[in-house]
Amino acid sequence: MKITKRLIVALTIVIAAVTVLFALYQVHEEKQRLIGELERRTLILADSLQESVAPLMQSDSPAKLNRLVVRFGNRERLRGVVVFDRQGTILASTPELRQKIPQPFPEAVRSFLENRAESGFINIEGSRTYVYVLPLAGEEALLGTMALFHDASYIDVRLMEIGKHNLLRFLAHTLLIVLITLIVVRWSITGPIAQIAAWMREQRTGKSRTGQPMIAPRGDVLAPLVSEVAHLAKSLALARAKADEKAVMRLPSDSSWTAQRLKDHMQEELGGRKLFVVSNREPYLHLREGSVVRCIIPAGGLVTALDPVMRISDGTWIAHGSGNADRDTVDARDRLRVPPENPSYTLRRVWFTKEEEEGYYYGFSNEGMWPLCHITHTRPLFRLEDWIEYQKVNEKFTEAVLQEIDGEESPLVLIQDYHLALLPLLVKKRRPDAKVALFWHIPWPNPESFGICPWQQEILLGMLGADIIGFHIQFHCNNFLDTVDRFLESKIDWEQFSVSRGGHTTLVKPFPISVRFDGIDPLEPKERVHTPDRAELLAGIGVQAKYLGVGVDRIDYTKGIPERFRAIERFLEKYPEFIGSFTFVELGAPSRTHIKRYYDLLAEVDEAVNRINWRFQTAEWKPIVFLKAHHSHDEIDRFYRIADLCMVTSLHDGMNLVAKEFVASQEDGEGVLILSQFAGASRELKDAIIVNPYDREEMADALFLSLTMKQQERAERMRRMRRAVGENTIYRWAGDLITALARLRSPEDRA
Ligand code: G6P
Repeated sequence: MKITKRLIVALTIVIAAVTVLFALYQVHEEKQRLIGELERRTLILADSLQESVAPLMQSDSPAKLNRLVVRFGNRERLRGVVVFDRQGTILASTPELRQKIPQPFPEAVRSFLENRAESGFINIEGSRTYVYVLPLAGEEALLGTMALFHDASYIDVRLMEIGKHNLLRFLAHTLLIVLITLIVVRWSITGPIAQIAAWMREQRTGKSRTGQPMIAPRGDVLAPLVSEVAHLAKSLALARAKADEKAVMRLPSDSSWTAQRLKDHMQEELGGRKLFVVSNREPYLHLREGSVVRCIIPAGGLVTALDPVMRISDGTWIAHGSGNADRDTVDARDRLRVPPENPSYTLRRVWFTKEEEEGYYYGFSNEGMWPLCHITHTRPLFRLEDWIEYQKVNEKFTEAVLQEIDGEESPLVLIQDYHLALLPLLVKKRRPDAKVALFWHIPWPNPESFGICPWQQEILLGMLGADIIGFHIQFHCNNFLDTVDRFLESKIDWEQFSVSRGGHTTLVKPFPISVRFDGIDPLEPKERVHTPDRAELLAGIGVQAKYLGVGVDRIDYTKGIPERFRAIERFLEKYPEFIGSFTFVELGAPSRTHIKRYYDLLAEVDEAVNRINWRFQTAEWKPIVFLKAHHSHDEIDRFYRIADLCMVTSLHDGMNLVAKEFVASQEDGEGVLILSQFAGASRELKDAIIVNPYDREEMADALFLSLTMKQQERAERMRRMRRAVGENTIYRWAGDLITALARLRSPEDRA
């Protein structure tokens, strides 16, 4: 039985029971009252009549007696009066009664014999009658009896009326109470439950029946339930996403993505369509040094990751031409083929004015967005003039993208990073057919942290122009969705991890970026044959050391470089046996030095190196060698390969590809990786020695552990890490992202 039916039946039974009880009580009371009143009236009449009847009986005057009786019996509701002799036969009577009562009249006989008044109800011709008989006393003996007959049928009529009223009252009460109950139940229980169920179904399936996202029911008695269910749904979806993320990392080795596999896959997925990558930083930068023009590959994870993908896709990479000889090396349409030694794709350069570079790159991107997204306690700076330049440059990039994709059908546009947050919407507005992905290479903070950005809505709206937004890890996706939830009116689907707004849906997914893994496929043959000569390399930098550690960074405050050096200092204090035998080589590329925070950091790092070296160094040894310069991949690779350990101590980092590059370089499988728990890479490289870079003691102990670890354990750990990187190469990242993008259905497909 449904709850409403049960409620109606229960209510009806209760109301009926209460009504019946009250009616019985009322009938009983009324009956008592009416009978009492009747008895009193009859008694008074009888008393007054007996005064006159007794003398007439004694004087034996039947005619007079009869007249008296007839006269007296003629009153309202009194049916009559009868006088009986000692045997109970009638002496005088109201005429109508004479034939209707039996003789001898039993009550009269009983009253005479017992000498007391008798009363009761009898039926005379179907009508209830109250009889009151009292003995009539003479001077010496009883003379007979006298009976008063009172009509009592009005009592039944009255009681019937009470019954009828109660029945009517019962029906009216039942109807009203049931009606009100139904309305309240529908309003406050079944209605909201049905709404919640529909909303939960939509949460679960991601499908709306109306086509419009459903708003979670609020403000009702069930509101606490709604909020709990919403949390539950979100937690379930997050747990599922986390499990998926782990499952992807555990995929068997036959699923390895190689350059060749990506090439074949792209052919299949894109069917000849080209790939367009847009980033601020260009992959090849031309610098004039005197009369010589040098081409360098800038430091940073973005270029390291994307260049190998572009090499096999023959697409176009649109980026800022920031080298002082860049303009001299492009054609009339600002393009050139790269890499110089083996041209495989097109680089389209975009030019900025000094003001634009200042406001957009140094200002808004690197003094605002960068510290906003990295939680390292460096305050973001937001200036209106920077924001204006940021918007202008994003529009400039839009024009360049539109020129490049002109004539291409449903082009795939992969936009990179925090410099270009507005670009997805700008491109999508002008080319709705383009399939646009935005990959965010840095972390995404929680809504509270992001909330300090004065242009939070504009940034989010710009990003949500993309069809897919990618982060390295699920945690950053969750933060992003929470942020959108906090600052924009939109529908978040925690099942699909998507945001719908104004008819457009953006998927928000993790795509953990990676590096090449040389030697496992024909397109990327093992380039190095010889292990570099350790003694020679160390001699080149002027040190002799038994143990070697390496660090490779852009000099950035997010990388935890001073923290790392202080840990090395502590390590030498705690384990002095390593003084003279352990040297740490820092390959640090100065970066963004135009910004004061970076300029000061360089000075701070220099100061730390000098102080620690001065404290511990000997004639032929020093603890830290700081190679402050831009280093080529080959130079870096040589150090990776001779190092006993590599330290990645980021205070906060989206992924950190140095960690993965080091693992990929360890063909002999001996090096130990010390890795910050705050770098995205720590989610995949579980066999690194994971450290908290703020904990100096822990880092010093990690150094000791790395240098004293048994060869077999080092090899085991590295083998497992190499498998993780080998199975999740940059080709897999690109394959996953391109597949997800290419398979998105366009609005026309859906129509
Ligand atoms: C990080 C950013 C990249 C950037 C790189 C180098 O990896 O995510 O977008 O290119 O740093 O920084 P730079 O400012 O020199 O381009």
